[in-house]
Amino acid sequence: MKRVVVVSNRVGLPNSADSAGGLVTGVRAAMRGRSGLWFGWSGKVATPAGDTHELVRADGIDYATVDLDDAAHRDFYLGFANGTLWPLCHFRLGLIEYAREQADAYEAANERFARILMPLLRPDDLVWVHDYHLIPLARALRRLGSRHRIGFFLHIPLPPPRALAILPNHRELFSSLLDYDLVGFQTDEDTDAFRAYCRGALGRLVRPDGTVMGPHRRTASGAFPIGIDAAAQQRMAADGANRATTRRLVDSLAGRRLIIGVDRLDYSKGLANRFTAFGRLLATRPQWRSRVTFLQIAAPSRIEIGRYREARRELERLAGKINGRHAEFDWQPIRYLNRGYRPAALAGFFRAAHVGLVTPLRDGMNLVAKEYVASQDPADPGVLVLSPFAGAAAELDRALIANPFDIDGVADALHRALLMPAEERRERWAALHATIARNGAERWQEAFIAALDAAAAPLPFAFAAAAP
Ligand code: G6P
Repeated sequence: MKRVVVVSNRVGLPNSADSAGGLVTGVRAAMRGRSGLWFGWSGKVATPAGDTHELVRADGIDYATVDLDDAAHRDFYLGFANGTLWPLCHFRLGLIEYAREQADAYEAANERFARILMPLLRPDDLVWVHDYHLIPLARALRRLGSRHRIGFFLHIPLPPPRALAILPNHRELFSSLLDYDLVGFQTDEDTDAFRAYCRGALGRLVRPDGTVMGPHRRTASGAFPIGIDAAAQQRMAADGANRATTRRLVDSLAGRRLIIGVDRLDYSKGLANRFTAFGRLLATRPQWRSRVTFLQIAAPSRIEIGRYREARRELERLAGKINGRHAEFDWQPIRYLNRGYRPAALAGFFRAAHVGLVTPLRDGMNLVAKEYVASQDPADPGVLVLSPFAGAAAELDRALIANPFDIDGVADALHRALLMPAEERRERWAALHATIARNGAERWQEAFIAALDAAAAPLPFAFAAAAP
């Protein structure tokens, strides 16, 4: 079996326990029980960073990590990756900030990653690159002479071509995707956007099977929705029901219903709309006052970026306002926690919650939706309220789908979820769980790697389509 080399900016190092977003959760689950190399950023900022890497080995996986220097952290990670590409791909066009020097720093960071990674590669490795930080990595590796099969998976959404074209360097950047042998997305909608962009903006021929005829190679494309290890999550949640933390949570509710939200604190997650919708529920349906508690866990993220600090201030303001208006001396409607928890603790919380509220304004997949469902007690499951703008909604259509921009609609969905009879809850849960168990992390990994392994060899001649 060929070795799989995973490359991503954020690496799920063995000793880092707090959940660090969907990429680490998904890749970690997909790599469980396998061997391979995982290469990326150490999470440390050190100046000068140097072209060296640190190696750790655990459970059959080699983790090779590099530091970022101050300038790369600022201009590559906080700048072009999270200040430009992140809002662009999450349809927040008004939030895009672009600076040419940051775009250059992004290219340079990719070239440096390629330089350090190249000597670690063996000739028949399959290289699997992840997410928007590393779009041009294959091009940088090819320039250094790599002939590996290289695949790319985008964890976040890809907006339609007209939105992509806002980026001043969009052709330079997105044409580099044609240096991969396979490009994968979360949903069909994202895949369609990619193909339409290749056809329109890059003038490339796209075959009916989704293969894009690039200048140097054929690039296969397709949807590979990321999953979780449902059985492991279910076990963790069943054990979690008896954990001291879960018992403390349940005791503190004093018999009230629990609604839970767990997210990175990110403006894409729609937390302000969510708080407002919960406030609307209490304002319009007084029967829930003193009878339901909303626990929102929002782990701080990218807090060096102004927009993230603003989002945090806005949530503090809203939580204060809603609690101030509705709280009783013995009941606080919103418990807003600005910290992360370990997956085992979260699994217990999910199981204790009657409603899982997952309402991003836009999200690549959202694995919390899947974790919430897999954590439920099959005999007495909770209800998932899900945004149609999470990639997960394409698979989880038996959730209560609620548009986060429609505050009254989300309040209605919460009301319905809180009142849903056990029979309907069980029926919906069984359908959701079957999908989640079928499309697990292992299947995601296997499908992507099989498609990468099967991807066509480079063209023997330069393909004579219009140059990008
Ligand atoms: C999302 C992205 C990942 C990223 C994660 C956490 O899930 O798709 O690439 O790792 O957020 O963000 P961070 O900036 O902390 O790596």
